[in-house]
Amino acid sequence: MKPLIVANWKMNPTSREEAKNLFNSIKEGIGSAKIEVVICPPFVYLPLLSGLTLGAQNVFYKEGGAFTGGISGAMLKDLRLEYVIVGHSESRRYLKETDEIINQKIKEALDSGLKIIFCIGETAEERDADQKNEVLERQIKKGLENIENLENINIAYEPVWAIGTGNNCSIEETKESIEFIRKLVRPDTRILYGGSVKSENSGEYIKDAGANGLLVGGASLNAEEFIKIVKSAE
Ligand code: PGA
Repeated sequence: MKPLIVANWKMNPTSREEAKNLFNSIKEGIGSAKIEVVICPPFVYLPLLSGLTLGAQNVFYKEGGAFTGGISGAMLKDLRLEYVIVGHSESRRYLKETDEIINQKIKEALDSGLKIIFCIGETAEERDADQKNEVLERQIKKGLENIENLENINIAYEPVWAIGTGNNCSIEETKESIEFIRKLVRPDTRILYGGSVKSENSGEYIKDAGANGLLVGGASLNAEEFIKIVKSAE
C-alpha cells in the first residue's frame, strides 16, 4: 500500500498570504515524492491553492439546500478535491458530532466521489478505564454502518490524548491498536497514525508500528518539518 501523508492545518494560518506561502514551500520541498501527500487547509483557502492533492477538514451531510454554514461533498468535488477528513476528535468535541452524524457525512462524501480520512481514537479517560478497543470498535462500526463501498475509506487512528500534546503514542501501543483496527476493516484499508507526529518519530510509525500513513497537525504548519516527515515515509 502506498503511504498516505496528510497535513491537517486545522484553523491555521490566519491569512491567504501565509496559506499560499506555506503551500508553495511544501510543494517545492516535496517535489515528486513517491508517496501520496494531501494538504487539508481551511475551506476558505482551498480555491487559492493548486499543484498538490487537496482535502477538506470536514463536510456537511446533505447535498445542498437550507443548511446555513454547510459545505457539501458536491461543492468540494467541484473544487477538484480528492479527500475529506471526517470524524476528527476536534469536530466530535467542539461541533458535537456523534457517530451517527459522522456516518451520514461519510455516506454523503462517498456519494459525491470523495475519498475519506475517517478519524477514530480514544480519550485519556477511556484509555485509563481500559475501554480503548471497545471505543475504537464502536466508532468504526457506527461510522461505517450500512456503507458497502469501502474502498475509498482510510482510517486515521488518533488517540485524543496524543493530539497537540507532544505526548505521541508509543510505537508498541500504536502497533497493537493498528492490529486491532486491522481486524475490523477491509485488508486493503490504509490505517494512518496521528497525534504529535514530528520528523523525529514519523518514520517509526511507518516502519515499526505498521501504519500506512500519518495525519499531521501542528508539524504540518512548518514546511521544512513537514517535508522531513514526508521524506521519512518514503
Ligand atoms: P497534531 O494533530 O499533529 O498537532 O497532534 C494531529 C491531528 O489532530 O490531526
